[in-house]
Amino acid sequence: MSDPLLQVEGLQVAYGTPAAPVPVVQGVSFTLGLEKLAVVGESGSGKTTVGRALLRLLPSQARVSAQRLRFDGIDLLGAGEREMAALRGSRLSMIMQDPKYSLNPVMNVGSQIGEAVQRVQRMGRGECRSAVEALLERVRIREPQRVAAQFAHQLSGGMGQRVMIAMMLAQRPQLLIADEPTSALDVSVRQEVLALLDELVAEQGLALLFISHDLNLVRHFCDRVLVMYAGRVVESLAAADLHRATHPYTLGLLNSLPSLRHRRAVLPVLQRDPAWSRP
Ligand SMILES: Nc1ncnc2c1ncn2[C@@H]1O[C@H](COP(=O)(O)OP(=O)(O)O)[C@@H](O)[C@H]1O
Ligand SMILES: [Mg+2]
Repeated sequence: MSDPLLQVEGLQVAYGTPAAPVPVVQGVSFTLGLEKLAVVGESGSGKTTVGRALLRLLPSQARVSAQRLRFDGIDLLGAGEREMAALRGSRLSMIMQDPKYSLNPVMNVGSQIGEAVQRVQRMGRGECRSAVEALLERVRIREPQRVAAQFAHQLSGGMGQRVMIAMMLAQRPQLLIADEPTSALDVSVRQEVLALLDELVAEQGLALLFISHDLNLVRHFCDRVLVMYAGRVVESLAAADLHRATHPYTLGLLNSLPSLRHRRAVLPVLQRDPAWSRP
């Protein structure tokens, strides 16, 4: 059997000083193939840090180590900065919660998607413009010409995520890390963006690492779920097996979901146990 696309073994990230370290990711291990893998956990559990560590996009104060951090045979910890930059623009990609921070603020949307198009295949200006408009139409943007001329700050959240997905369609990454891509969106827009992400994954056969705090959402959207608590993976399950979860934190997350069938006056507060934070 060939190796999975992504192998993460014993990933550790700490801030603070070596004498007084503040560990935020503490020995996270998982593999990712052509599937949708969710990383869920409450705010501060280390999800974004894991995603950014894979792209080597953590601030310089972060101390990162791992027994293994391999993407398609490439050692992500040992790779040079230039190799990483090349990977980020092509085979490895990340969508952030707020697309305003992923898009270049001083370049219009059309030019940015155009750059991604040109990186994959050189073409003339007119042809590139048509390709960009076709991509915007693919993500169901109705007035592609108008939107292509806009800048990041002029886009609504949902529109921004559509633009990011159009960019991914052009760039054709093998691994996409989506960090809470729908958390800032209205429920109706959220469903549309999820459906587009789903199409992207199916069509391009890519591996998706989907970061979310919403267990209810990921259990329907993803194949597998890693539950993080205080920098550790406390449980790892097929999404279809979530009803068999055993860790009290996972059960707490499941329990705190509002349900139409079982109405509750007040959502229960998650109970925590210091023992969960020990290895
Ligand atoms: N630059 C930083 N310096 C110090 N601590 C940080 C920094 N970035 C994140 N952290 C801490 O790391 C922990 C995990 O953060 P994060 O990965 O963003 O969590 P999540 O995405 O699950 O909400 C948090 O406690 C956060 O305060
Ligand atoms: Mg986060």
